[in-house]
Amino acid sequence: VLPTRVTLVDVGPRDGLQNEKQPVEAEHKIELVHRLQAAGLREIEVTSFVSPKWVPQMADNAEVMAGLARRQGVRYSVLVPNMKGLEAALPTRPDEVVVFGAASEAFSQRNINCSIEESIERFRPVVAQAHAHGLKVRGAISCALGCPYQGEVPLDEVERVVRLMKDIGVDHVGVADTIGVGTPHKVQAAMERALKHYPLHEVSGHFHDTYGQALANIYACLEMGIHTFDASVAGLGGCPYAKGATGNVATEDVVFMLHGLGIETGIDLDALVDAARFISDVLGRKPVSRVANALLAK
Ligand code: HMG
Ligand code: MG
Repeated sequence: VLPTRVTLVDVGPRDGLQNEKQPVEAEHKIELVHRLQAAGLREIEVTSFVSPKWVPQMADNAEVMAGLARRQGVRYSVLVPNMKGLEAALPTRPDEVVVFGAASEAFSQRNINCSIEESIERFRPVVAQAHAHGLKVRGAISCALGCPYQGEVPLDEVERVVRLMKDIGVDHVGVADTIGVGTPHKVQAAMERALKHYPLHEVSGHFHDTYGQALANIYACLEMGIHTFDASVAGLGGCPYAKGATGNVATEDVVFMLHGLGIETGIDLDALVDAARFISDVLGRKPVSRVANALLAK
């Protein structure tokens, strides 16, 4: 039996907009978050506190956080790669921080400039401090289904990072298909490794849709009882350090599938499509989402 309710985390403001070549005004990012929460999203990944030399698009992190009209019951999360990031993030009052590691050494080096072991040592005090401030900590595991630099990533490597994250106290792990090469049974195998160390409600999937597999992969996770997924409004996204990776699965497409399955999300699809249209207009293009385009063409 499939879950009756699914939680979607919209990562569009962060994963989506970190990857845009054109600058996006902070006020537009803030408006996007407002529209997402109006559409019923209860978890929103707002920004990242990373080096502005590495990802200039997120340099306005504090401004965006300060501009939010917060809604009760919504969890606002931010990425932090190290203590410097956490120290910058704390005064902006996130509800959750996300440390991000990788199951591939090559990707770890390119994305955060250190080895997997070193990244865990950087995350250790971040987790402790975040917990001391009452924040939840999510751990993203990039390249769990494949790496743009090293290709195949063995399941043992995925599980090793899951275990390392568990050891340092990370509360929740997100298994990420950074380049969208995963297919349903491979995704289930990776999820099984995560579920050896974390309960169902603390494991989520983060699927880039580069090869069009994301909805099938989400369905495969639902069959296992996994009920938390990242998705990105309008299908925004990518990673500046994973060339050719396209956006995350579009939140609209996931919502359409889930509602069709009779699974509750708490999200109003029309309002979500409106948010997709808003950010797509800002960016001067059409949403990547099939569902948004179908509904907008009506
Ligand atoms: P580094 O150069 O090794 O860091 O970068 P460092 O500690 O040697 O410091 C170098 C400079 O950066 C110093 O400044 C630091 O102050 C500064 P300088 O003295 O040269 O003026 N610095 C910072 N500034 C602001 N905020 C910070 C920070 N830390 C150091 N937190 C670092 C290491 C991790 C900082 C760098 O590699 C970085 O910022 N990487 C970010 C990569 C990134 O954001 N990638 C995209 C997000 S991950 C993703 O999209 C994947 C995900 O969606 C899942 C999936 O799909 O796979 C989550
Ligand atoms: Mg991503």
